Amino acid sequence: MPNPVMDAIASRRSVRRYETKPVPPKLVSELLRAAVASPSAMNRQHWRFVVVSDKERIKELSDAVKRLFNPHGFTRQIAERFKNKEYTVFYGAPLLILVCADRHSSRWAEIECGIAAENMLLAAHSLGLGSCFVGLGQTLNSDRLLLSALGIPDDHEIIAPLVFGYPAEKTPAPARTFEDKVLNRIG
Ligand SMILES: Cc1cc2nc3c(=O)[nH]c(=O)nc-3n(C[C@H](O)[C@H](O)[C@H](O)COP(=O)(O)O)c2cc1C
Repeated sequence: MPNPVMDAIASRRSVRRYETKPVPPKLVSELLRAAVASPSAMNRQHWRFVVVSDKERIKELSDAVKRLFNPHGFTRQIAERFKNKEYTVFYGAPLLILVCADRHSSRWAEIECGIAAENMLLAAHSLGLGSCFVGLGQTLNSDRLLLSALGIPDDHEIIAPLVFGYPAEKTPAPARTFEDKVLNRIG
C-alpha cells in the first residue's frame, strides 16, 4: 500500500551538490516546524537553531572548518578532500541550519537534536529540497568567539550542522537490508 512517509524515508539521500537558488523563507519555516514537532525527553525541547541563509557567511564558515579541522588521524580520503581547494565543507548549499544544545543540561539533549535533525531532513525531502547532515561542521565548536558571533550562547554548542537547498544531483537509493542488523528476535 503506498505510504508517503515510508516513501520519503526510503528515498531520502544526502545531497552534496546544490543549485544556487535560495530556499524560500516559507520552506525554512516548514523545516523548523518539522524540527519542533519532534519528541524530546519530558518535552523539554533542548534544541536551538541558528539559521544561516547568507551564502557568503556559509562560505566563511566552510573556510573556518577547513582552518580549524585537523585531518590528522582521519582517513586518507578525508585528508585528501581537505587538500582540494575546490572542496567546500557545506557543498555550496544556500541554507545552513545549526541545531544546537547545551549538552550538559540533559543527557538527552544530543539525542533530541539528532531526532529534530532527521525530522528536518525528511521534511526537506518531502518539500523537494535536498539536504545533508554535515558532521564536520561540529569543528566550529572549537572557536568560541565564532560561536558567539553566530549567536550561540556560551553553554551551547553545535550538535547537528545541516545543509539544505534545491538538489543539483540525483543520488540513487542504496540497497540496504535490515536483516543483518537485527541482533535478535524474541517472541
Ligand atoms: C552524524 C552524521 C555525520 C555526517 N557527517 C557528514 C559530513 O561531515 N560530510 C558529509 O558529506 N556527509 C556527512 N554525513 C552524511 C553521511 O555520509 C550519509 O548519511 C551516509 O553516507 C548515508 O547516505 P544517505 O544519507 O544518502 O543515506 C553525516 C551523517 C551523519 C548522520
